[in-house]
Order: sequence, then structure tokens, then C-alpha cells
Amino acid sequence: INMRLLTFLLKNGSLGKQVDFYSRFSPSPLSMKQFLDFGSENACERTSFVFLRQELPVRLANIMKEINLLPDNLLKTPSVQLVQSWYIQSFQEILDFKERKAEDDKVIYDFTDAVIKIRNRHNDVIPTLAQGVVEYKESYGIDPVTSQNVQYFLDRFFMSRISIRMLLNQHTLLFGGKVKVNPAHPKQIGSIDPHCRVEEVIKDAYENARRLCDLYYMNSPELKLEEFNAKERGKPTTVVYVPSHLYHMVFELFKNAMRATMEYHGVIAEYPPVKVQVALGHEDLTVKMSDRGGGVPLRKIERLFSYTYSTAPLPRMETSRATPLAGYGYGLPISRLYARYFQGDLKLYSLEGYGTDAVIYIKALSTDSIERLPVYNRSAWRHYKTIHEADDWCVPSKEPKDMTTFRSS
Ligand SMILES: Nc1ncnc2c1ncn2[C@@H]1O[C@H](COP(=O)(O)OP(=O)(O)OP(=O)(O)O)[C@@H](O)[C@H]1O
Ligand SMILES: [Mg+2]
Repeated sequence: INMRLLTFLLKNGSLGKQVDFYSRFSPSPLSMKQFLDFGSENACERTSFVFLRQELPVRLANIMKEINLLPDNLLKTPSVQLVQSWYIQSFQEILDFKERKAEDDKVIYDFTDAVIKIRNRHNDVIPTLAQGVVEYKESYGIDPVTSQNVQYFLDRFFMSRISIRMLLNQHTLLFGGKVKVNPAHPKQIGSIDPHCRVEEVIKDAYENARRLCDLYYMNSPELKLEEFNAKERGKPTTVVYVPSHLYHMVFELFKNAMRATMEYHGVIAEYPPVKVQVALGHEDLTVKMSDRGGGVPLRKIERLFSYTYSTAPLPRMETSRATPLAGYGYGLPISRLYARYFQGDLKLYSLEGYGTDAVIYIKALSTDSIERLPVYNRSAWRHYKTIHEADDWCVPSKEPKDMTTFRSS
């Protein structure tokens, strides 16, 4: 695939017109209930096909318009060009189904094939883009305005990616195999578990994070887990959710909590445990993870969610598959996106000198769990184009003012 040609087509050819056309539609956010209905007994591959061949180009085009608004020097990095070429190719491949007949079994079959191919093509988007940002930072340095734009863009771009992968996954899991039931998770509807056992996901993530921690530090903190189910006292906490999303979030938080604990205490006989509390109320399911890894000063908390900042040494692109305990510094920002994707959130509260609480909020009711999607419109456009002016709060000067000048003479 020739990238120059693709960029040319995007700017001048019919491809650019198609992207413009589809970017004018707003993506349609789906609720957890709609996802479940799509996968219930009357699940119809044809309905899914007809929906996706419209919705996928819309979601792709909306975010492709924003890629083009990135700072020129970032847009020109080989990594960003590569990602852009994947988007163009996938967009084109879905559009090829526009005129094909939904009644034809062959078409439906080909479509599912195309969906699988597209999903695999985009597997490495995150490390590739992360690499692009590193390249850009190394060559041009990062000023606050660019950093803000990159933050704004990547939050939206990765959120869009999460949502597109959700659609692709549901389609292939429900219709891709010969059997509709996933043998590994017979009760799941695609990637959604209507009775996701929160505690089990947490324990699973803990064990895997602990294994990594043992590898690096020859030791690891214990887990202390508490559950408060206010909805059904004494019963295990369950929620309608995507277990892999929950797993991703708590796994990232565990890795951070363990790394902080091990680094802060150095070599000692027993490390303070990582404490996790799960509470299920009427509106929120809350997971709080508390470590005693020394905490982070308030001034730095916001930075931890930045795509242009990490305290861990940079991983090399080739070894990024080896799952290091800390890498590009995308653990927290991406986890927060997973939480926000279904209208939840992820927050950090720290007591510097002691430890950190990380809190995941998830909607307890599936009717509240609705996709949160970026849309390309004028106000999004304005975000990239506005010249960020001077701060509207006073900047304290380093030197105390000479009060003598104010004395009345
Ligand atoms: N519980 C914690 N206690 C102290 N510092 C933390 C904690 N969690 C995160 N941090 C700090 O925040 C930074 C960013 O965390 P984040 O998980 O986003 O990236 P990372 O761990 O550096 O790399 P990775 O992408 O592999 O997760 C960490 O490098 C660390 O300095
Ligand atoms: Mg991390």
C-alpha cells in the first residue's frame, strides 16, 4: 500500500469526498441493551451487516477528519502516516459493501471476513501512534499548546477506536464462528457478560499483574479484597459489562500500584498489601484500589493521564509485546477511556508520602451504559484551530513584589 498515493487520494480523489460525506453524519451511540438485543435469540447477521456498513464508515470518517487537523510535523511522521493508511484502507474496504446485496449469503460471509481483517490490521495502532508522538517529541520538542492538542486528539481517537473495535468484535464473536456460543464464555453475548462477576475479574487481573511484578522485583504485595453489595446483600457483585474492559482497567491499576509499592519500600520482608474495595449501589459500581506506594503530589496528578509523559524508561518498539510493567505511560489514560466509554470514569486521589487511591466508576444499570463517542463538528474543529491565548488566571511571579512602590507619598 502506497502511502503517498493514499494521502493524494484523500486530498483530491473521490475517497476524500466519501470521507467528507460520511463525516457529516454523527455516530450513533449504542446502549448496552441494544448490544444485548443485537446478540439475543433473534440476532440477525444481516441486520448487523446493514447497520455496520453505514455506522463503521461514519465512525471512521469522523475521526479521520480529526487526524488531518494534527500538527503538520506530527502528521508527517511515518508512524502517523502508517496509521492513517490503515484507516483509509479499512474505510475503503467497508465502502466496497455499499452497493452489494444484503440478501446474498456470500456478501454477508465476505463482510464478516472483511471485518476480521480490519480488526487485525488495527491491532497495533496504540504503540504505533505512541511511537509517532515520541518521534515528534524528540525532533521538535513539545510545547503546552501542542501537548494540549495531542491530548485532546488522542483521547478522542482512542475512544473512537475502542468503540469501533467493540462493533467489530460483537459482529465477529456473534457471527464469525460456526457456533454462536463462545465456548470459553458460554454466557457472554459477544464480549458482554450480562452477569459479569466483578470480584473474579479483579482476582484474575491481580494474579497476572503479580506474576509480572514477581518477575521484576522477585516479590509482590498481597491483595486484600472487600465487597459491599448494597443491592443484594451478601451476594457477589455482578454488572452487565464487558469483562475484558474491566480487566484492562484493573490490570493497569494493579501494575501501577505494585510498581509504586515495590519502588517506594525498596527491599523489605513484607510489603503493604494492595487493598481493593468493590461497592455496588443503585447508580454506581465503584472499584477503589488503594496502595501504599508513597503517592504522587497533587501538582503532578493531571500529568499522569497525559500521553506525552511517563516516568518509566521508554520501551523499544520491538519489545513492546513483552508486556513490561510500565511502558509508554498510556496505562492510565487508556484505562480512563475504557471507564468513560460506557459513561463511567476513573480518578486518582493521592496522599503524597503515603499512597494512592485509584477509583473506577461504572454505571450499575445497563440502561445508563451508553457509548460515549466523539463527533467531528465545528466545536471539535475549533479545538485544534484556536490559538491558545494567555491564561485567564494570574501567574504568580517568582519574586515578591516590592511593596514600597505602592506607598503613598
Ligand atoms: N499508584 C501509583 N502510585 C504512584 N505513582 C503512580 C501510581 N500510578 C501511576 N503512577 C505514576 O503515573 C505514571 C503514569 O502511569 P501509567 O500507568 O499511565 O503509565 P506507566 O505505568 O508509566 O506505563 P504503562 O503504559 O505501561 O502503564 C507512572 O509512570 C507513575 O509514575
Ligand atoms: Mg502503568
